[in-house]
Amino acid sequence: MTDAERFDAHVAAEGKVEPKDWMPDAYRKTLVRQISQHAHSEIIGMQPEGNWLTRAPSLRRKAILLAKVQDEAGHGLYLYAAAETLGTSRDQMVDDLIAGKAKYSSIFNYPTPTWADIGAIGWLVDGAAIMNQVPLCRCSYGPYARAMKRICKEESFHQRQGYDILVSLCRGSDRQKQMAQDALDRWWWPSLMMFGPNDDASPNSAQSMKWRIKRFSNDELRQRFVDATVPQAHFLGLRIPDDELRYDDTAGHWRFGEPDWEEFHRVLAGDGPMNAHRIEHRRRARDDGQWVLDAASAHAAKRRRPAA
Ligand code: 3HC
Repeated sequence: MTDAERFDAHVAAEGKVEPKDWMPDAYRKTLVRQISQHAHSEIIGMQPEGNWLTRAPSLRRKAILLAKVQDEAGHGLYLYAAAETLGTSRDQMVDDLIAGKAKYSSIFNYPTPTWADIGAIGWLVDGAAIMNQVPLCRCSYGPYARAMKRICKEESFHQRQGYDILVSLCRGSDRQKQMAQDALDRWWWPSLMMFGPNDDASPNSAQSMKWRIKRFSNDELRQRFVDATVPQAHFLGLRIPDDELRYDDTAGHWRFGEPDWEEFHRVLAGDGPMNAHRIEHRRRARDDGQWVLDAASAHAAKRRRPAA
């Protein structure tokens, strides 16, 4: 048996892979790609919600949102640390992001014009993230699976707080309910795009599923998300912005229309409403915060030096 054959048999038998184990270069490469992009998404994802920290409608909502945004920073930390076990560095990953060589989730390139958008992000974006991240807790690569277990523990709070914002708005004035509907109209389709292109247009899925990185296909997880979320929208008394939406009694699934894949690829190519703003903000944070990193590294180096 070759190393590659032994490796494939190991992961096919649900074996875990640890940093010091032999692994195909392509396995390492696709994990650095996926985990670093996941980490970038967590950190960039702090911007749209951070935009409302100073404008939350009450001290309670502000404290909840602050806790959530801080959680996302921690999620990014876990994921960058998991990616670094594959031989890349934090600096390299962030440089690749800012240079446009690495992606982050398309969903974070949309604006948050009202407080209802913060509710829609928690409910839909974190709801989609939960659907996609729970299977990753069983990923074949040990550090990624362990990071996901920690992250998933916090995601359900993220989704609940977003849904709770929309429950309040939908039980409020007509204007507040309309704000919630407008936010659902803005975030519904971009949330479906979070699961990636259709399976027949996904270049990475087949191999990622063979290597037990991905447990379910993009379309399977998208369908699960729609089936779980449509009844929640109906409970709020909101309309899903999809004229093709209908329940298929025989299959037991909600049938839905096709996302605008041209918009998806346009946003991935950097032409979304907020792409330039998000990357410029991330570049400024890296550059303006460099002195903190330098000071911390100098202090750590001094402590390592033997006393004279
Ligand atoms: N945004 C940006 N890029 C996307 C994308 C999206 N929504 N969906 C797919 N892509 C990219 C892929 O990265 C890939 O490009 P690449 O080869 O240059 O990396 C290309 O489109 C083709 O997609 P594939 O389906 O072939 O790629 P994958 O097999 O990697 O599947 C994925 C895409 C489902 C996003 C997978 O990478 C994944 O599960 N990643 C981990 C989860 C993640 O990153 N979630 C992002 C949101 S994190 C979040 O929401 C935090 C929450 O707390 C708010």
